[in-house]
Amino acid sequence: MKVDVLLGLQWGDEGKGKVVDVLTPRYDVVARFQGGPNAGHTLEFEGQKYVLRSIPSGIFQGDKVNIIGNGVVLDPALFKAEAEALEATGHKLKDRLHISKKAHLILPTHRMLDAAYEAAKGDAKVGTTGKGIGPTYTDKVSRNGVRVGDILENFEQKYAEAKKRHEQILKSLNYEYDLTELEKDWMQGIEYLKSFTLVDSEHEINNLLRDNKTVLCEGAQGTMLDIDFGSYPFVTSSNTVCAGACTGLGIAPNKIGEVYGIFKAYCTRVGAGPFPTELFDETGDKICTLGHEFGSVTGRKRRCGWIDLVALRYSIMVNGVTKLIMMKSDVLDTFPLIKACVAYKMNGEEIDYFPYSIDNNVEPVYVELPGWEMDMTNMQSEDEFPEEFNAYLTFLEEQLGVEIKIVSVGPDRAQTIERYTEE
Ligand code: GDP
Ligand code: IMO
Ligand code: MG
Repeated sequence: MKVDVLLGLQWGDEGKGKVVDVLTPRYDVVARFQGGPNAGHTLEFEGQKYVLRSIPSGIFQGDKVNIIGNGVVLDPALFKAEAEALEATGHKLKDRLHISKKAHLILPTHRMLDAAYEAAKGDAKVGTTGKGIGPTYTDKVSRNGVRVGDILENFEQKYAEAKKRHEQILKSLNYEYDLTELEKDWMQGIEYLKSFTLVDSEHEINNLLRDNKTVLCEGAQGTMLDIDFGSYPFVTSSNTVCAGACTGLGIAPNKIGEVYGIFKAYCTRVGAGPFPTELFDETGDKICTLGHEFGSVTGRKRRCGWIDLVALRYSIMVNGVTKLIMMKSDVLDTFPLIKACVAYKMNGEEIDYFPYSIDNNVEPVYVELPGWEMDMTNMQSEDEFPEEFNAYLTFLEEQLGVEIKIVSVGPDRAQTIERYTEE
């Protein structure tokens, strides 16, 4: 069997958690392949709301196995808090959440380093989530990391060596910190981790595929935050693109099946960095208010703007997206007019491709479309879609060259409409 991948096409928070949850009944296994507790994936069903950071979003549907792959970075303290909160609500995790031994551990000092590097950057700071993501991936690549598998053997020494190295750097940056509480929670997290099934995810996934099982890979962040293809340096530190599923789980590229690309009907970004279609006016505020655009992890206000089709086309290209999913269309339900950026103006010239840099040097070129001005949140089928909404979908499909297969009209699991277009 092949593996399907679901990932964000914008700057994150597209609604990945919700859709992974909706699609989970169709798969045997759900697996996360990159990122860490910088992610905040929200799911709503039966009047309950859950925010997942490190645990895959397939955990609520039946007793499916969920895997945290080798490409993920894991903070044991945050993981323990997240897992215990879920267990407390009656969701049993122990036997069905498998964790790769090759996933790297976020140490308390990684979080300190994240804060220290951000402080040292001053105005040029990235606006990270402060979870130690960058420093942990840096240690991984520089061959200094501590992995989940290390907790089983000679751990104290490995931890002490890494901590010592980090403390030297923190000292050189004159960064003051107190590790006492963090370290205590973290060590408890390490003990807690030992009670989970620690695996080699590459073997597990490939054995599943050989046995004709189906796997859905859940991306974190979004393509515009990818370390290679995002708006560097205002990006995260992992490959959020489809290829990240190969390296983050041990899946060969020819095993990838469908690639679900997910986007909002508009666009948001949290943290610093360029955002060509950002709105600084009442329209932006209206999107923010109606869309409840506040970070699910940090609570930070998300910057809002119109949909950027230049960036989306680029994301679709680098991921090989085969099916599109549009989220949060209901947020635009009351807008008489909707804008979509179809090109950029750069140095007086109009371009329709995503350039090397989008720093202040690009100006969006918009097409205006009539809004549908109708409450769509209770709609159950595409037969109910208003004419203007169908026109918006058709316009997007023409611009993007890929069919929109699912439309989300509200945060709840039930507010999801599949479009039955011919295959
Ligand atoms: P993720 O990181 O991609 O999983 O997305 P987040 O959970 O960070 O942010 C998406 C937010 O939008 C969450 O608060 C969801 O509950 C909410 N959401 C998801 N889909 C919809 C939708 O179709 N309409 C509305 N209004 N909210 C949605
Ligand atoms: P989900 O999976 C939105 C952003 C941060 C910052 C940059 C780098 O919920 O979509 P990091 O802590 O990763 O070093 O921060 O990336 N960022 C996200 N923005 N959604 C996310 O995850 C994000 N994870 C990181 O705001 O700009
Ligand atoms: Mg999120």
